[in-house]
Formats: sequence, C-alpha cells, structure tokens
Amino acid sequence: MILVTGATGALGRPTVELLCAAGHAVRSLSRRASDTPDTVVADLATGIGLSDALAGVTTVVHLASGANAHDSQHTQNLLDALVAHPVEHLIFMSIVGVDKHAFAYYRDKHLSEQLIAASGTPYSILRATQFHSFVAGLLRAQRRSPVTIVPAFTMQPVAVEEVAARLVELVDAGPAQRVADFAGPEQLQFRELARQWNVAHGRSRPTWALPLPGPVGRSFARGDHLGTPSGAGHTTFAQYAENAAASR
Ligand SMILES: NC(=O)c1ccc[n+]([C@@H]2O[C@H](COP(=O)([O-])OP(=O)(O)OC[C@H]3O[C@@H](n4cnc5c(N)ncnc54)[C@H](OP(=O)(O)O)[C@@H]3O)[C@@H](O)[C@H]2O)c1
Repeated sequence: MILVTGATGALGRPTVELLCAAGHAVRSLSRRASDTPDTVVADLATGIGLSDALAGVTTVVHLASGANAHDSQHTQNLLDALVAHPVEHLIFMSIVGVDKHAFAYYRDKHLSEQLIAASGTPYSILRATQFHSFVAGLLRAQRRSPVTIVPAFTMQPVAVEEVAARLVELVDAGPAQRVADFAGPEQLQFRELARQWNVAHGRSRPTWALPLPGPVGRSFARGDHLGTPSGAGHTTFAQYAENAAASR
C-alpha cells in the first residue's frame, strides 16, 4: 500500500492517478474527508490521524505542503509517526536549489531533506523546478489587469504530469537517496512566459518585469532555482498555455 500525502494537490492528483494506473494500491491523505475511496483524514501539522493513515503502508510519497516555511515540522511529525509504522521507502518532493536559495520556504524544504536523510528510513528525494501551473497561477491572478507584472528573472517550468511520472518510476525503483533533479525543457525570462500566456489567451497587453529586492531577489536573479539548461521535462510552457486556453 502506498500512502500519498498532498494527494489532493496539483502534483498529488496526477501522481495518485498514475500510481493507480500502474496497478499500485494507493491511499490518499487529506485534512478533509472526501467521497474518493481510499482517502484517509490526517493532519501533518498536528499528527492527528497519521498512525491510522500509515497502517499497512510500505511506501510513502510525501508531497504535502502548507506553502509556508513550517513544512519541516510536518515532515518531522511524519517521521515521528514512522517510528511506530516503519516503511520500506519514503519519497520526498523537493525543489531545485533549496540548498543554496535564500527564500525561507525553500530553506525549510532543505531542512526537511536533511531530517529525512538523517531519519534512518530508506528514502528518495526528487527536486523539481516550478510547475507550469504555479507560473500560470501568478498570471491568471492578473487576468483583469491592463498590464501583466512579473518578476525580472528566468524560470524553467515543468509539467506536473511529467514530475508525477518520475515519482512513479522512483516508487518502482526503490530507495535511491537524492536522485537527479527534474527540470523543465527550457529556461525563459518570466516576461517571455507571460507573453506566451497572453498570446495563447488572445490578450494583448504590456508586460512589466520588476526586479525582486533583497537576498531572495538576488537568489532568483542568480538562478539558484534553475536546473541544467535543458531539463528532463518535454512539455514547454507555450504548449501548456495553449492547452489551458483551449480548455477554458
Ligand atoms: N508548485 C510548484 O511549482 C512546485 C515545484 C517543485 C516542487 N514543489 C513541491 O511539490 C509538492 C506538491 O506541491 P503542489 O503544488 O502540488 O501543492 P498544493 O497544490 O499546494 O497542494 C498542497 C497539498 O498539501 C496538503 N496539505 C497541506 N497542509 C497539510 C497538512 N497540515 N496535513 C496534511 N496535508 C496537508 C493539501 O491537502 P488537503 O488540503 O487535502 O489537506 C494539498 O493536497 C510540495 O512539496 C511543493 O513544495 C512544488
């Protein structure tokens, strides 16, 4: 039985789908009850429900994130629960560059990696670049704005379905500790991604690229969050934008 934390999220949904399609028995962890069979209610912030969620589980795919800098406490709560319910394999979804980036969320992600590596549980850690859907979320939020405002740095977004497929490979391969980063197929200025998004959605408007201040801005400007120039991903952001516009 595979337990997927963050199963209801952007990455969790295709991961559960692909694991089930590959014939795995999957249990989805969420803080909310749902009609979906094999959903278990638990909260990584409090640890409530984790013991039941882990009963009979051999692999945990840990994707949950509160999008704040406290996820490492959630990871620690999961590791504490694993003491009573040891598993054969814990897979953790991380982010490219977390060991050098100044962004507090990324630094905390690195702390989670370190906790897992020191825990004694056999593990794999996969780092990915930002998802297409994450970039799209920032652009969708500005759909009524006469200008599109983006940060003045480069991005290398990746398709969430391709990251999910890589996670399934890691499940099947067994514990491998830190594996090769999974980055998108091209590095493009955020401004260019915004242009592609607007073109796909039939919008004509100026795009302003503003530098981010401080250490976090310098980290993004240096490209601490980028993978090797041509990553393992195949789907470009332009293709993603066209599909998103077509399915509106
Ligand atoms: N987004 C990106 O661009 C990106 C890039 C690289 C790596 N990552 C990493 O990939 C992972 C998945 O990201 P995502 O974008 O798919 O996340 P997401 O869409 O924001 O989903 C977050 C998930 O975390 C769960 N969650 C939050 N707090 C929880 C808690 N206290 N207890 C249990 N579950 C909790 C939520 O489940 P419920 O609401 O159902 O409880 C939800 O399923 C994260 O670790 C993220 O850091 C993201």
